[in-house]
Amino acid sequence: MNTPAEFVAWFRSVAPYINAFRGKTFVISFSGEMVTNAAFVDFIHDVNLLASLGVRLVLVHGARPQIQLRLDESQLETQTVMGMRVTDPAALQCVKESVGRVHHEIAALLSMGLPNSPMANAAIRVTSGNFVTACPQGVIQGIDLMHTGKVRKINAPAIHSRLEQGDVVLISPLGYSPTGEIFNLTMENVATETAIALHAEKLILLLDSADTSVLPRELTLPESKLLLENKTPARVAPIPDAIRSSLQYATKACELGVTRAHLVSRHIDGAIIQELFTHDGIGCMISQETLQALRKARIDDVGGILQLIEPLEAEGILVRRGRELLEIEIDRFTVLEHDGVILGCAALYPFPEEHACELACLAIHPDYRDQGHGERLLKHIENKTIAQDIHKLFVLTTHATHWFIEHGFNPATPAELPKAKQNLYNYQRRSKVLIKHL
Ligand SMILES: CC(C)(COP(=O)(O)OP(=O)(O)OC[C@H]1O[C@@H](n2cnc3c(N)ncnc32)[C@H](O)[C@@H]1OP(=O)(O)O)[C@@H](O)C(=O)NCCC(=O)NCCS
Repeated sequence: MNTPAEFVAWFRSVAPYINAFRGKTFVISFSGEMVTNAAFVDFIHDVNLLASLGVRLVLVHGARPQIQLRLDESQLETQTVMGMRVTDPAALQCVKESVGRVHHEIAALLSMGLPNSPMANAAIRVTSGNFVTACPQGVIQGIDLMHTGKVRKINAPAIHSRLEQGDVVLISPLGYSPTGEIFNLTMENVATETAIALHAEKLILLLDSADTSVLPRELTLPESKLLLENKTPARVAPIPDAIRSSLQYATKACELGVTRAHLVSRHIDGAIIQELFTHDGIGCMISQETLQALRKARIDDVGGILQLIEPLEAEGILVRRGRELLEIEIDRFTVLEHDGVILGCAALYPFPEEHACELACLAIHPDYRDQGHGERLLKHIENKTIAQDIHKLFVLTTHATHWFIEHGFNPATPAELPKAKQNLYNYQRRSKVLIKHL
């Protein structure tokens, strides 16, 4: 970003995401490896940024390397069954010490507030508690895993009430049982179950694996399941085991109500910011449904539509509509939405007495033009017109005459417009009139 104009354009480009994320719940998990890395402070700054934008944050941390170090120091050897460490009472002691230490280190970093740093005036309130009820994994292949457990229940109301207060909730990979025991859990298990219990908007799993490029940028739930069943779509390469396991968690989360799950490499500076605030992201996003939707506009789309059309109004390409008019006429609008951001819109105004409809305010965000979105919206509007048993569609345009001609419209005169529209025709604006017979 070299010029003030580029800065302004960039700042405006992130506004739709800020609006879309405010008040939403994100669960972010990160490993103990990440905590030991110097770049962890930058991650904490990004967490601070998200919190200050009004995102409700739950952080779930791991502590595997710290636990291993403590076990080595104590010269304790542990058995592993199907990739799970057996946590006997001596190992549990090391787990408690290591997890406690990591937990406090993270809380301390989140409490930073030095002037002239990204944390200045942040005043993040971190909260923790006995939110995770756990039970033992049990006996597997004849071996008792003792204090190695799994999540049994998440106290979602308690977490919600902390989030409601504006706190960042920090959860460790330990759980407690009604019998008063402590269990060693995996952070992926805790993060996934927490996101499901909270009906979170997003579950973000930061992966230790540096390369997530084997995964596509976006997967729908059915696509992700096919990938896990090795019925790989042609465009996707086989996935390594470490990423596969995270994809399993992400898929489960989406299947059970989390809107989106993201797998992002922790090695990229500003990974969560890049993933969340850019259209393409940098990791892999799994979503319950197709990300792009053409749908009837709702009242809460008014902000997004205004952001899209105001620059075009300022250039005189579209006729100016105030927020108030847009709110009144919102039912007339169709929007093209991608992952919560409005990329395009169009409005349809019927003139039933004269068996005609007007297509107005067709706009595609400049960054997403030339991808067929305009044509899709037009087709949708044409179908809506035909559904009303009207077969004449007209449009007034100053800048897109050829686009409409190439889509079957014919040049016409203002006299061919419905009477009510003729009376409103602005002879100074001198828009071209185009009509399509459907
Ligand atoms: C007109 C508009 C909706 C087209 O959206 P889009 O998603 O880019 O359209 P599509 O991808 O379906 O079509 C792209 C094709 O149209 C062409 N095209 C785009 N805008 C054009 C214009 N104003 N005049 C002529 N051709 C145009 C592109 O060059 C491309 O041609 P190609 O397929 O030969 O490469 C978009 O340019 C826009 O929002 N314009 C500003 C608002 C406007 O003028 N609206 C109309 C008044 S209601």
